[in-house]
Parts: sequence; structure tokens; C-alpha cells
Amino acid sequence: MAQRGRFITLEGGEGVGKTTNLSWVETWLTSRGVEVVRTREPGGTPRAEAIRQLLLDPIGDEPLDDDAELLLVFAARAQHLARCIRPALARGAWVLCDRFTDATFAYQGGGRGIDAARIAELEAFVQRGLEPDLTLLLDMPVAAAQRRLQARLTVGGTTRDRFEQEQSAFFEAVRNAYRSRAAAAPERFAVIDADASLEQVQARLDKVLDERVSPWLPR
Ligand SMILES: Nc1ncnc2c1ncn2[C@@H]1O[C@H](COP(=O)(O)OP(=O)(O)O)[C@@H](O)[C@H]1O
Ligand SMILES: [Mg+2]
Repeated sequence: MAQRGRFITLEGGEGVGKTTNLSWVETWLTSRGVEVVRTREPGGTPRAEAIRQLLLDPIGDEPLDDDAELLLVFAARAQHLARCIRPALARGAWVLCDRFTDATFAYQGGGRGIDAARIAELEAFVQRGLEPDLTLLLDMPVAAAQRRLQARLTVGGTTRDRFEQEQSAFFEAVRNAYRSRAAAAPERFAVIDADASLEQVQARLDKVLDERVSPWLPR
């Protein structure tokens, strides 16, 4: 039996650099002999990605009910866990995921105002005790992250999705929820100040991985 792989998540608001740094973390791990399954939420499997589209597309002007949004997030997560994350961990691969349940507490909890206790019920139902071994929270002021996002939208020419259309009060609430979850579980979280050059952010990530992940590496 292979030893269970490790489960690492990257979290943070829009534009903090999650997707950019995911590749860097993946390289850090693969160069140390780890098989990495890189994935994201909401999504990560074809059906879960279809649910992601339901969550992100504005779809005319029918508002998406907050509870419906929450349930769609966890429906996608159940599929992702069953078809991707649990099988990968079971065969000994490490899973590196761009967002996971902390994002639900931040966006649907902090942002939408859903009671954290209700989210925790769904977390227990869907995850049955599985949680990340390490969560890298990229943290920076909302305004600075929004400026990066603006640059990305200008270059990419894409329109804003349902979350990107929110106002700064929503993103401030998301950031605060992330920070308080990190403060409440310091053994699982590492908070990285992401308001710096990519080189500096990656030096900070390197230090965290050296301290916290090196002891887990196969040898
Ligand atoms: N440390 C950084 N300094 C400046 N720009 C950055 C930095 N990290 C990421 N970016 C840029 O900011 C934008 C958002 O980064 P991205 O990785 O897509 O963020 P996220 O996935 O967290 O929304 C991208 O255009 C990216 O190239
Ligand atoms: Mg991203």
C-alpha cells in the first residue's frame, strides 16, 4: 500500500497570485521527487467544471440564491473529491489545489454572509474528515490585488465573472474571513504576504515549504 499523499491548497482573494504561484509550488515539489496532481476549485473534473460554469456565468439577470450557490460549491467539491482528490491521495500522489473549502468560508461565508456553522455542516457531510495538510494563504490589501486583476482583464480581454463583479466591501469581507480562519488554525495555515514582487513572494513560499513540507518528503 502506498503511503497517502499530502494535500496542499492555495488560497486568497482575486489577483493575489494563486494561479501564478501554483506552477512554482508544483515545480518545487516535482523537483523533489513528488508526483503532483494539480487541480482547482470549483472544478477539477469535467462535471465539476460544468458546475463551475453555473457558479461563475452571470446567466442573464436571474440572481443565484446564496444557499443554491453554497450547495453548488459543495456539489462540485463532492465530485472533485470522489473522482480526483481521494483517488490521487490514496495512490500516494500529492494534490495541489487552487482553492478549496477555506474559499467557501471566505466567499459564501464572509462575502455572502452565510453562517459559518451551516458551511461547517456541509464540510463535514462532504469531506468526512478530509482536510488539507497545508494551506498557503496569499494575503494582500484588496486594492492592490484589484489593480493586478485589472491588468489581467485588460490583457486577456475577458469579462468579469459573477464574483469578479462584486464590490470592494465583498472582497474586504472575503479577506477578513480568510485571515481569521488562518489565525484560528495556525498549524494548518501559512500566511504569505503577497504584496511584493513575484521573486519575493516565491522566496517566502520557498521558506515555508522548506520548513513545513521538507519533513514530509519521501527519502
Ligand atoms: N507578485 C506579483 N507581482 C505582480 N504581479 C503579479 C504577482 N503575482 C501575480 N501577478 C499578476 O497578477 C495577476 C493575477 O495573478 P493570478 O495568479 O491570476 O492571481 P489569482 O489566481 O490569485 O487570481 C496576473 O496577471 C499575474 O501575472
Ligand atoms: Mg487564479
